[in-house]
Amino acid sequence: MNTSTATPTAAPTGEMPATSVVDTYRRRARHYDLTANLYYLIGFREQAYRARAVDALGLRAGDTVLEIGCGTGLNFALLERAVGPTGHIVGVDLTDAMLDQARERIDRRGWSNVELVLGDAAAYRPTRRFDGVLSTLALSLAPDPAPIVAWAAGALRPGGHLAVLDLKLPPAPLARLVPALLPLVRPFGVTRTVLDRRPWERIWGAMFEHLDNVHIGESWGGAVYLATGRHMPLNT
Ligand SMILES: C[S@@+](CC[C@H](N)C(=O)[O-])C[C@H]1O[C@@H](n2cnc3c(N)ncnc32)[C@H](O)[C@@H]1O
Repeated sequence: MNTSTATPTAAPTGEMPATSVVDTYRRRARHYDLTANLYYLIGFREQAYRARAVDALGLRAGDTVLEIGCGTGLNFALLERAVGPTGHIVGVDLTDAMLDQARERIDRRGWSNVELVLGDAAAYRPTRRFDGVLSTLALSLAPDPAPIVAWAAGALRPGGHLAVLDLKLPPAPLARLVPALLPLVRPFGVTRTVLDRRPWERIWGAMFEHLDNVHIGESWGGAVYLATGRHMPLNT
């Protein structure tokens, strides 16, 4: 596996430090794909949300795409379909065990154009530019996602898109269901502490600051959002 290692960043008090994210996902990695599917039982249309996020990138054959927090690679088939065999996919993730699962998927599918990078997205600095950057269900786990959005926006080629799919607190009256739903997402590191720091606001704020054409759509009663933005060409 093509790997680089970055030092986990310190978390503000009360946050989940990068090391506990790694511990959490080391425990979940082997059964992650299976457990992700179980959320269909509560109306979480995971595959449809993923497809919408990848579509929003507007990728074409031969493009290069980065996925931040790629996990086991559940988006790779969609990304492969979008960029084709002449394209290139780079997946960055903090957890070695999740990337082991991703590597198994890549080998099983015979994809030769996927590169995996082990490291904290907060410390990662890509050395190339991308036609699209995707992050699904991962950025909220970073203690401060705003700087990650900033470098991701800067890593886009002019006209390239960033798409972030993640969870947020739903509006009232559905907010009352949050205590009942929290036990379902807590095993994946989405705790009350994480929701209370409202990472979606930091992510959206950074997208409005660094990108154009920012659009935010909601699903699943407002508990899931897809935020997209475009790196404007200089001459428009
Ligand atoms: C819920 S999983 C999502 C995986 C994949 N994106 C998906 O949609 O199935 C969260 C992933 O984010 C990764 N992650 C969390 N914080 C990260 C960080 N700071 N840098 C890189 N990856 C991170 C975890 O290791 C884990 O694999």
